[in-house]
Amino acid sequence: MAEQNSNMSSKEIFALEDQYGCRNYAPVPVALCRGEGVFVWDVEGKKYYDFLSAYSAINQGHCHPRILNAFFEQAKKLTLVSRAFYSDQLGKYEKFMTGIFGFDRLLPMNTGVEGGESACKIARKWGYSVKKIPDGQAKIIFAEGNFWGRTLSAVSSSSDPSCYEGFGPYMPGFVLIPYNDIPALEKALQDPTVAAFMVEPIQGEAGVIVPNDGYLRKVRELCTKQNVLWIADEVQTGLGRTGKLLAVEHEGVRPDILILGKALSGGVMPVSAVLANSEVMDVIKPGTHGSTYGGNPLACAVATEAIKVLIEEKLPERAEKLGLILREELNKIPKNLITTVRGRGLMYAIVIDDSIPAYDVCLRLRDAGLLTKTTHGQTIRLAPPLVISEDQVREGAAIIRKVLESFKK
Ligand SMILES: Cc1ncc(COP(=O)(O)O)c(C=O)c1O
Repeated sequence: MAEQNSNMSSKEIFALEDQYGCRNYAPVPVALCRGEGVFVWDVEGKKYYDFLSAYSAINQGHCHPRILNAFFEQAKKLTLVSRAFYSDQLGKYEKFMTGIFGFDRLLPMNTGVEGGESACKIARKWGYSVKKIPDGQAKIIFAEGNFWGRTLSAVSSSSDPSCYEGFGPYMPGFVLIPYNDIPALEKALQDPTVAAFMVEPIQGEAGVIVPNDGYLRKVRELCTKQNVLWIADEVQTGLGRTGKLLAVEHEGVRPDILILGKALSGGVMPVSAVLANSEVMDVIKPGTHGSTYGGNPLACAVATEAIKVLIEEKLPERAEKLGLILREELNKIPKNLITTVRGRGLMYAIVIDDSIPAYDVCLRLRDAGLLTKTTHGQTIRLAPPLVISEDQVREGAAIIRKVLESFKK
């Protein structure tokens, strides 16, 4: 008999949220109460592989002891001062982060979407004060299929009707071009009022869309040539997920503005950051941008430890190596079950054959002890914590295969 972990059943938990919560999500029906490393447990005591990692926020694994320790130690001392005062943590954290990522300055925020929003504000301000774009005319270019959150700015740049429909009027000055399309970018950048191009190195929410080799190098080259800032949204791809600390490293390039989030705290609390060099970041002056919780001492201590864990446990290298094994195992699954396998590092998606409903696959995976979710249509994301072992990768792939085969019986 499995250990009972909560005084409520899963069904009671589903009913509570359904009755009292805003119904803005449709979760896979599983009610979790504990996590450790690559595993989570539901309230009835059933154990699961987590193959979603809170959309790559749990790269370091659930409840990493070092990150929790940093959290508790700092929480006992000081958690929040706002930016009205200095804390003994923020400057130290900024020095650490700029040293690791090779930028002059860091702007601390909380969620990923605030990181994107901040990057857009910086780019507009830079457009007016440095590039001398006529007042009110600055444009930011985005790629179709992008996802960077749910604020009005983020949905204004979305090409997904479920994100933007019914939320207008939309932010002016946002332009969409196809992803992975260099001629389209080249054309859009001819416009002298363009301040920035914001893009994910691999599109996550769109279904793990990997651009052609050389795309990011060409983006860098074109943005430099046209005096346009390149903003890399590495909220999902960053921090080891794709097999490098940053996904842009695969092509040996650096953006002008880098956005980090999610795994920056290892899943412990919302922490995001925008990094840039002084000539860009210095357009922001006191009073022009901020956040009450941004840069709080608790977040600084947690994020510093989360990054140290990534580096010292060599998690990007682990993602690179184990990603190849995951790909190899997934490619062995017959093509009448999985039509496409794509991704990099431990950021993968599989496209399920049209004859099998992808959501039902997630339900059967859950029953077989592996949690993940569909993105769009027939696509299922596979992104386990990077602390996963080789045997666990193989076991996860075997569960996926067995579940898919069960649909053909
Ligand atoms: C690439 C990317 N950017 C930004 C965000 C937004 O992050 P948050 O949900 O923390 O606001 C997400 C969330 O999935 C994302 O995938």
